[in-house]
Amino acid sequence: VSPSLAVTRIGELVTNDSELGAGPLGLIREAAVVIDGGVIVYVGPSKSAPAADTEVIASERCVIPGFVDSHTHVVFAGDRADEFVARMAGRSYATGGIASTVETTRAASDAVLLANARRLVDEAISQGTTVIETKSGYGLTVEDEARSLRAAAECADEVTFLGAHVVPDEYARDREAYVELVVGAMLNECAPLAGWCDVFCDEGAFDEDESARVLAAAREKGLGLRLHANQLAPGPGAQLAARFGAASADHLNHLDPDDIAALADAGVVATLCPGADFSTRARYAQGRSLLEAGVTVAIATDCNPGTSYTTSMPFVVALAVRDCGLSPDEAVLAATLGGAKALRREDVGRLVPGCRGDLAVLDAPSHVYLAYRPGVRLVDVVVRRGEVVFPAALKSDRRDEVGVGS
Ligand code: NIG
Ligand code: FE
Repeated sequence: VSPSLAVTRIGELVTNDSELGAGPLGLIREAAVVIDGGVIVYVGPSKSAPAADTEVIASERCVIPGFVDSHTHVVFAGDRADEFVARMAGRSYATGGIASTVETTRAASDAVLLANARRLVDEAISQGTTVIETKSGYGLTVEDEARSLRAAAECADEVTFLGAHVVPDEYARDREAYVELVVGAMLNECAPLAGWCDVFCDEGAFDEDESARVLAAAREKGLGLRLHANQLAPGPGAQLAARFGAASADHLNHLDPDDIAALADAGVVATLCPGADFSTRARYAQGRSLLEAGVTVAIATDCNPGTSYTTSMPFVVALAVRDCGLSPDEAVLAATLGGAKALRREDVGRLVPGCRGDLAVLDAPSHVYLAYRPGVRLVDVVVRRGEVVFPAALKSDRRDEVGVGS
């Protein structure tokens, strides 16, 4: 049983619960959070907080719920730095680059795949992420998808099968046979290893019929559904997400008003991936239009070697504010509670009694600084399930006070 932990003298606490505090972020001043057995047991004035085994003194700074990164692809080997350089010199992004990561991933051992994924997850944690989703999708054979999912389950909270990422080169002349493989043998092997199925429904990936077949087969297996949709071109992805009642449609750079209305009506979360837009010089998703239509918005890193090689939620929060039309409040909400909703998780993304004890202490007086001071390390201490998971020096189970600033 983990010892109890109190985070005290919080200058600004973001609870994400408007009944607990001010505004949509539920802000409380001079607050404390106490966690016992990994679960939050107290949120309220610092001076009335119950005692705990360990105390983290926030020294009047800001505490936010841990980020929920609901869309990453961290199970892979190799990199694509050359492709990035070429793109910055003017070449545009195409899905063909995925083949190069598929080749290096297939050639890597299970141990290397897991070590690579773990390194990226640790990097994410050090920047305030406490819940992370990750996908297969660089194996594209039954065995390589299955072992990618096993690696994912070792290091991530939520695991997604993405056999329908692209058609691998060996099936280029027979797409139909690859879709058959995905909905047949691959899904049989992979469904027990995942909670979700994702499909890349876009130009250069899968069309409407192919995507619908994969989604229907995955639903049949009991998997939750999510899509990569309308990233590279206008298309049927968003409508398909609505039709299938997917938890989330991700990217959404090319939407028309009907697509937005369909997402709103079906209650599909719109997950923005502005890191991909940054690194591919693409048009940014119009988060403002989605919010105005009443769509729930999430922000994720989309960490992958092709389009968005970042694990930093603070970075994508800054981009969402700068380029997707979100206010700092909306962006922080999208990166925490929005991500939780995209994963249909009720236990994370908020700091309220009964939720998981996941939070980040910022070296800043306010959550606004996440966007206002881009590229600066502002995440000082990260707590997950009531345990300090960053920085490493504080990870020990010391029962005394852990000061984090003056
Ligand atoms: O989310 N859009 C599809 N998949 C990834 C890119 C994969 C790659 O280029 O390796 C993405 O951007
Ligand atoms: Fe992605």
